[in-house]
Amino acid sequence: MQTIHDRAALTAHLGSFRAAGETIALVPTMGALHAGHMALVAEAKKRATRVAVSIFVNPKQFGPNEDFEAYPRRTEADSAKLLTAGVDVLWMPSVDEMYPTGFATNIRVAGLPDRLCGAARPGHFDGVATVVAKLFNQVRPDIAIFGEKDWQQLAIIRRMAADLDMGIDVVGFPTQREDDGLALSSRNAYLTAEERAAAVSLPRALGHAARTIEGGDNIARTLSSIAPALLKAGFSSVDYVELVDAETLVPLEKLNRPGRLLAAARIGKARLIDNLPVLPAA
Ligand code: PAJ
Repeated sequence: MQTIHDRAALTAHLGSFRAAGETIALVPTMGALHAGHMALVAEAKKRATRVAVSIFVNPKQFGPNEDFEAYPRRTEADSAKLLTAGVDVLWMPSVDEMYPTGFATNIRVAGLPDRLCGAARPGHFDGVATVVAKLFNQVRPDIAIFGEKDWQQLAIIRRMAADLDMGIDVVGFPTQREDDGLALSSRNAYLTAEERAAAVSLPRALGHAARTIEGGDNIARTLSSIAPALLKAGFSSVDYVELVDAETLVPLEKLNRPGRLLAAARIGKARLIDNLPVLPAA
């Protein structure tokens, strides 16, 4: 595995793969790698002959009161995991390499980022779209793999790649979970043992609601029962719980097409997100 910090070296190295007719899959990350990230890497290995993983804690996607400084950075452990997984290139640009003095471009996908997580995190998805566009241009992969765990992010990146004719196959991969159902997340590290035990109520409440709605129960009534259940279980606040069209993220009032049930809620120092499919009867 080559660990690369500058763009000229990246271009040369990937260029040699391309010249040999190889295909390249990219897995963008912010590091602190867990089994969820590694599942994306394993999928990437199946879909291309070469795999590049990027680790870049992107300042543009953190708000002023968010955890950019505190975000876990574990370069050595990450690098060892990627080496064992058979990754070919670890792309680790510095903030100056990514955003040199004078950098002035912002990529904003209209509509999709305005609600759900975007409402509580203004500018977050512009930061994500901007850095992912740059990573796509730097690596020029054939395919890029993202987790369904960040469903809104995945929808925004798909839209951007299609709208800007990027010619990259954007692939979503299912959320990887702990044995009790909690979605793996770097931010789970912020939880105390007690908060961790309570956090499982998020996937449980969503799973119960998804089945209830699929079973034909009233959508609004089912959704309105989720936040009280989370607060009772120990969450301190609930940012949103919504059933939306899986692709456009427009709220669904009737289950007449594939939906996605999404929620974000705060517990201790962590803001946790999760989502599940809600499908109309076949
Ligand atoms: P990060 O949070 O490090 O996540 C990197 C990728 O791993 C994302 O595609 C995310 O959806 C996926 N992922 C995280 N937890 C997962 C889980 N439990 N199961 C499956 N996939 C999971 O998302 C980002 O970084 C950044 O916004 C990024 C896209 C890298 C842009 O900076």
